[in-house]
Amino acid sequence: MAAEVESLDRSGGAATTNPLRAGMDSSRIANPCNVIFFGASGDLTKRMLMPAMYNLRLGDILPTNFGIVGFSRSEKSHYDFRDEMKEAIDQFSRSGEARDPLWSDFAQRLHYIAGSFDDVDSFHELRRQLEENDEKLGTEGNRLYYLSTPPSVFGKIVQQLAAAGLGPRDQQRGWSRIIVEKPFGTDLVSARNLQAEISKVFEEKQIYRIDHYLGKEPVQDIMALRFANVMFEPIWNRRYVDNVQITAAETVGVEGRGGYYDNAGALKDMIQNHVMNLLALVAMEPPISPNADHIRDEKFKVLSAMRPIPEDIVSKVTARGQYGPGLVEGKPVAGYREEPSVDPNSATETYACVKFYIDNWRWADVPFYLRSGKRLARKHSEIAVTFRGIPHRIFGETGDQIESNTLVMKIQPEEGVSIRFNAKIPGPKMHIRGVTMDFNYGTGFGVVSAPAYERLIGDAMRGDATLFTRWDAVEQAWQAVMPILNRWSETRIVDFPNYLAGSQGPQNADALLVADGREWRRI
Ligand code: BG6
Repeated sequence: MAAEVESLDRSGGAATTNPLRAGMDSSRIANPCNVIFFGASGDLTKRMLMPAMYNLRLGDILPTNFGIVGFSRSEKSHYDFRDEMKEAIDQFSRSGEARDPLWSDFAQRLHYIAGSFDDVDSFHELRRQLEENDEKLGTEGNRLYYLSTPPSVFGKIVQQLAAAGLGPRDQQRGWSRIIVEKPFGTDLVSARNLQAEISKVFEEKQIYRIDHYLGKEPVQDIMALRFANVMFEPIWNRRYVDNVQITAAETVGVEGRGGYYDNAGALKDMIQNHVMNLLALVAMEPPISPNADHIRDEKFKVLSAMRPIPEDIVSKVTARGQYGPGLVEGKPVAGYREEPSVDPNSATETYACVKFYIDNWRWADVPFYLRSGKRLARKHSEIAVTFRGIPHRIFGETGDQIESNTLVMKIQPEEGVSIRFNAKIPGPKMHIRGVTMDFNYGTGFGVVSAPAYERLIGDAMRGDATLFTRWDAVEQAWQAVMPILNRWSETRIVDFPNYLAGSQGPQNADALLVADGREWRRI
């Protein structure tokens, strides 16, 4: 079947002859397997996971023999599930509607188990289905479990897998891996408890903690920029770098997830995981090889060098905010406290920023400013490395400003790298002005990056854990934010909401940098 069905042009359009694209396509995954989605009726499955699976199939990346099993509470037949998934793909897939003959082949590999996470019988039913798939679809006993349920049942599901003989230790043949969605815990203690539950059944090398930021192409490019070039590394340190700003700004509000978000907030939802992962990649030492553990060793080392923030200085090195009503992209939007399922007196932050230091030889005393917020002026994620000023000024007429050089890794929506440096303005006088040199991955390589989930699910099927977070790093990241969470939970908030939807964020965030004689880059 595989060869005859249509396949997705991974450039997202007509094939080009750009020689830089040579060798870029991922190859088919060799190992047959079943992918089991827990939480199959949820939003993530519909919006992201199933379209990702379908596009992996369309791109001819899924193994020839694969099966997909959805597991969730709601009652429905295999047929209902297939219909639902078709609708989801039609609506959310980047390749448009699901079409035959590919869809019919894909659909017959989809099965559904309606079950309660408390009921071991449902897990026996799952086992029966997986064994049937092994027989009929040739999946050879290989299983990739995907936990996309509310985190409160992660531990329970893992227990039930073991109870039903579906744990890796009970396996007669094949491999088992488990992808765990974020958030991995809601604080340090709960993360440790969850880790203890999961590791009773799965070994660390079988646990894939997903952070979808790591699946974004420009995030992976951070390593390429740093370690496939010689010219950045010599200046990538405290001698030349003045400060690093990492921004993950969104225009969306809580998007119907008020119930979850109101118990989380920006620090737990974004900074502890996505933003810290960016920090680790930008600050780590060069790994000795691209091996998953060599890279993750370096990420762990840098996270463990983060200077602990004493609780009594939390207010000096952090700021938080909550949006009120405002205008986003020209349209009026409600304030956070008016969002569905949000407490009308909520003290949850929708904006957080923190100044961290990394206590090692490379970074001693260089501030890393991290910020993330919802309902800001623009969707924009970037890492900006600002270098120190020149040591001695010889050029520039009085009044010319000689800017610091800045290297910006643009994560989204633009994907690229830009370098800001000074140049002489043409003319008889020695006027100096900052100019920008821009590289854009899309135009440079003639490709549209695949969504992160496609890359990550494919990697987990291949057994490549490089882009998944290892437990030691998750633990360190929790450790770094705990003093802030503790302090914030003890301090009464009187000024929320303190920024307008559609703005640059709260003023107290500006004050944090002004106190250091710096300012945030504009969102
Ligand atoms: C998720 C957060 O992990 O990342 C959401 O829970 C956030 O609140 C989302 O909106 C942002 O992802 P992206 O890919 O749109 O930047």
